[in-house]
Amino acid sequence: MINNLARSVKELCQHDSSGHDWWHIHRVVNLAKNIGSKEGADLPIVETAALLHDLDDWKLTSNNQENLPNARALLIEYGATAELTERVITIINEVSFKGAGVDTKPTSIEAMVVQDADRLDAIGAIGIARTFAYGGYKNQPMHNPNLKPALHNSYEDYKSMRTSTINHFYEKLLLLKDRLNTKTAIELAIQRHRFMEQFLEQFYAEWNID
Ligand code: NI
Repeated sequence: MINNLARSVKELCQHDSSGHDWWHIHRVVNLAKNIGSKEGADLPIVETAALLHDLDDWKLTSNNQENLPNARALLIEYGATAELTERVITIINEVSFKGAGVDTKPTSIEAMVVQDADRLDAIGAIGIARTFAYGGYKNQPMHNPNLKPALHNSYEDYKSMRTSTINHFYEKLLLLKDRLNTKTAIELAIQRHRFMEQFLEQFYAEWNID
């Protein structure tokens, strides 16, 4: 089933240019398996949820979330039991970042691992690259010194924000290292976080030259 799911997901996201392409899924699957094996999670469940975690993402589809129609359809197509389907759907629903002031604590070790893997792929060098790709996809300015970052207290505010790519570092990326669940992921985040701080320092130094 996992191979079939991987093939279908690869096909569905092959034309993505928002930073949620197949290689993002591939990296999250590998990170999740790596973290999951050290944290004693159920690896086939972790892998299944990681593969399907962005198929119904609000940033990319107009689906009204919660029941995750795309992920659910694939699980049913490849013969997942009702129990497995619900377990995976619950994990995916718990994974997404919903705003700086919105608490999204997962309820199972498998959901913690997939959330950590997805968040690690949003920081560091790859996180920076994906953030600029996503900003372009959303027609956002790269940076505007007059536009200040906002820490959103509701999921609705976060979804409807008008912002810049540089602001997104303060609204999400720099907050992620303190929102990780597992010890393994926290260790992996340290260097990635430092790299983003160095990037911003250099960015402002170049921006403010006169
Ligand atoms: Ni993702």
